[in-house]
Amino acid sequence: MSTPRSRPLALVTGASSGIGTAYAERLARDGYDVVLVARRRERLEVLAQRLRVAAGAQAEVLTADLADAGGLARVETRVAGDPPVTLLVNNAGFGGYRPFVEVEPKVIDALIDIHIRTVARLNRAALPGMVHRGSGGVINVASLLALSGALPPNPLPHRAVYAGAKAFMLTFTQVLAGELAGTGVKVQVCLPGVVATEFHTVQGMDMSKRPRMTAEDLVAGSLASWARGEIICIPALEDASLMDRSVAAQTEVARTAAFSPALASRYRSGG
Ligand SMILES: NC(=O)c1ccc[n+]([C@@H]2O[C@H](COP(=O)([O-])OP(=O)(O)OC[C@H]3O[C@@H](n4cnc5c(N)ncnc54)[C@H](OP(=O)(O)O)[C@@H]3O)[C@@H](O)[C@H]2O)c1
Repeated sequence: MSTPRSRPLALVTGASSGIGTAYAERLARDGYDVVLVARRRERLEVLAQRLRVAAGAQAEVLTADLADAGGLARVETRVAGDPPVTLLVNNAGFGGYRPFVEVEPKVIDALIDIHIRTVARLNRAALPGMVHRGSGGVINVASLLALSGALPPNPLPHRAVYAGAKAFMLTFTQVLAGELAGTGVKVQVCLPGVVATEFHTVQGMDMSKRPRMTAEDLVAGSLASWARGEIICIPALEDASLMDRSVAAQTEVARTAAFSPALASRYRSGG
């Protein structure tokens, strides 16, 4: 057992850039110590030093490729280890946008590894200790593209695997929230729209002419939502009742049909 620390500890994946850097900076300012995870060590070291000096935070660098089994295992060990992680932010990700029939199989694997396997496994590593302590929680950074299944690829990108993986994060977090009710542990799924980071430039897209939220505003929204105890955070959605109605409609569909043994009448005539 390590000596108890006075500051809570947050572990942020994808901390070397964009939204992850903004979470780390804001959480350090809010009084957290941080573990910074990504592949690019130099960037993490620079950020860690900045947080030590500017926010008085203890900042630990953990380089890992989360699409690699060994890298994921090292982060799992840290997430489940001591001193305990109070807040896990599952944020690392990339887009891999391309017409589905042209996507390289290894890109499909990496998208599933980082947005599905990593998210599920790091939640699994973090939550038992949190439930035992009766506090803490996890923020899973998904995307509004989780809701984009019925929208065409123009002007949105070709994104079947990415959007499907982000939809996993949405349903996964909603179901977890139900399981965790009454434990004192919280989970949030955050659904950003377009945010000004390297996310689009790394895949050769220029979004600089589009209106984009700043990563700092996105994080401010996510953490305000966290304080309010919301499960789904859509930082740019002014009328929150719109999402409430969408969730209610989905719930109604599932409730109505899930345990109904009868085939719907429109399918009974034999077409
Ligand atoms: N920007 C947007 O418009 C937008 C919108 C909706 C959702 N999002 C989501 O927001 C999250 C953060 O994206 P961002 O906008 O901040 O993009 P970004 O600036 O490109 O940052 C992505 C981060 O993920 C890390 N990462 C990527 N692959 C990794 C791997 N295999 N192992 C470990 N770390 C990895 C990168 O670090 P290294 O390269 O150093 O490993 C980097 O720190 C992503 O999950 C993304 O899907 C972004």
